[in-house]
Amino acid sequence: MTLIAILPGDGIGPEVTTEARRALEALAYDLTFEEAPVGGAAYRACGHPLPEQTLDLARRADAVLFGAVGDPDLDGLERALRPEQAILGLRRELALFANLRPARLFPGLEDASALRPEVASAIDLVIVRELTGDVYFGEKGQRQTATGSRQGYDIMAYDEHEVARIARVGFETARKRRGRLCSVDKANVLETSQLWRDVVIEVAADYADVELSHMYVDNAAMQLVRNPGQFDVIVTGNLFGDILSDQASMCAGSIGMLPSAALNTDAKGLYEPIHGSAPDIAGKGAANPCAAMLSAAMMLRHSLARPELADRLEAAVIGAVADGIRTPDLGGTATTRQVGDAVIARL
Ligand code: NAI
Ligand code: MG
Repeated sequence: MTLIAILPGDGIGPEVTTEARRALEALAYDLTFEEAPVGGAAYRACGHPLPEQTLDLARRADAVLFGAVGDPDLDGLERALRPEQAILGLRRELALFANLRPARLFPGLEDASALRPEVASAIDLVIVRELTGDVYFGEKGQRQTATGSRQGYDIMAYDEHEVARIARVGFETARKRRGRLCSVDKANVLETSQLWRDVVIEVAADYADVELSHMYVDNAAMQLVRNPGQFDVIVTGNLFGDILSDQASMCAGSIGMLPSAALNTDAKGLYEPIHGSAPDIAGKGAANPCAAMLSAAMMLRHSLARPELADRLEAAVIGAVADGIRTPDLGGTATTRQVGDAVIARL
């Protein structure tokens, strides 16, 4: 039996993971599901955003379906107890260093994109974001300087083995697609980025069939809006990848459309929409469940070795959206459940 850990989390997390789980149940009969609290929900239930039982379930499971964490009412907590620590802890504990974030514009969503239709429709890219290093995991704190003013600091650092292994994921991903990899850094200013660029060039020796280019992150932000069709695969660090993938989501119509897979080198993975807990729309049935459902499709493909089921689920999501069954973020009036029902009906 294949065990799927469901970690719904906060805000719209439970609403969208429910629809993704229903789709998985409709597709495959040999999956078992076990649910555990995470984030603010876990803090309220047991005083910690990532309780030992939740981490244990994630370790035992073949794959993890994660919703979102974040609760504005808990923003005053010390950092170690904040809901967001749960997702950082899961990435660290499961060593999920590679984050795949595909972005493409589905048929019929040209009007939902922030870009002109002819520019937006060209977008079909994957951002490969490094997930367990960078400024997110470096030493951080606040202190007083000699003059008595407060100072905040976060150390940005990358080891060469961290860069090399994410570069390999980037090259492998590009090799299976259109064969083009763009490495995004800030090597004109940051030493971390200079090492990044040097190591990516070294790894490229093993991938003569992939065309490698380099781009500074500020230019990449501009190019994503000017001409997103130029990109096939982007490989970048944790911070730059976080920002660029939210930006790419707007080219693709809505942040509610973008799934992600957080992977190690084995089959285990954590799958989550790229969006957060969206407290502004939580509990209203207005959340777009497509990103969560497409994350479940990525799970079928990467962790469960069921590509044919992944294809069916993706086609069902694309079909429902193309037929106009859309939540308000895409200009529609459907509820979260109605979109889920429409997808399941197409399975
Ligand atoms: P967010 O992604 O939650 O929301 C940004 C905007 O997009 C909001 O207007 C929201 O309504 C909309 N949106 C997001 N997902 C949507 C969906 N599925 N359907 C329709 N509209 C959607 O980002 P925000 O507001 O910056 O953060 C809210 C909370 O989520 C914070 O506590 C933050 O720390 C947390 N967060 C958690 C993440 C995670 O669990 N992986 C990732 C990003 C943020
Ligand atoms: Mg983000």
